[in-house]
Amino acid sequence: MKTSSMTLGILVAGLSAVSIAAYAETPAGQGGKMEYGEYKDWPVLGVSHRTEKNTLRAIVGNEIAIKAARSGNTQPWPDGSIIAKVVWKQRVHPHWPSAIVPGEFSAAEAMVKDSKKYAETGGWGFGHWEGRKLVMNNKEKSAECFACHMPVKDADYVYTLPVYQ
Ligand code: HEC
Repeated sequence: MKTSSMTLGILVAGLSAVSIAAYAETPAGQGGKMEYGEYKDWPVLGVSHRTEKNTLRAIVGNEIAIKAARSGNTQPWPDGSIIAKVVWKQRVHPHWPSAIVPGEFSAAEAMVKDSKKYAETGGWGFGHWEGRKLVMNNKEKSAECFACHMPVKDADYVYTLPVYQ
């Protein structure tokens, strides 16, 4: 019994090390399409309500991003950080009119930190999920995204004010 639970412990430790390494290495190692469907399992970094767009957003992060936020290590955010912004149209809760809740899914956008690969846009690659695939935007589109993130240059181009620090 003892041996098997130890073996399991080693196996679990090994598996989580592998997944952390995968998060850290994939953004630098690949361009174009990547598998990052995991964002649905990622912890919350923040939420926002864009009143000019009538949308609600959940901002979540991969393991590296969450760890960085919780330890205050976001100046700059470390390479391998991925921040996802999941957007829903807002609607009134059918059973509680003063509650604004997520309605129809609108989009899931991404910022992937790789200070070398994306040096031209502040070290951030900009992309979006198509189903479970993270598709990185081309240069022109990324430049557009980046331009609007300029006002928060001092926060390493990230608007979200992380919760649970
Ligand atoms: C018109 C300005 C504007 C443009 C263009 C823009 N963003 Fe943002 N972005 C914001 C603002 C404001 C926030 C914070 C509020 C919110 O959650 O929407 C934000 C937040 C984000 C976040 C969450 C991390 C953070 O910085 O808080 C991601 C990820 C993101 N944007 C990705 C993108 C991508 C990808 C593009 C290009 C396709 C893009 N953005 C274009 C204004 C913009």
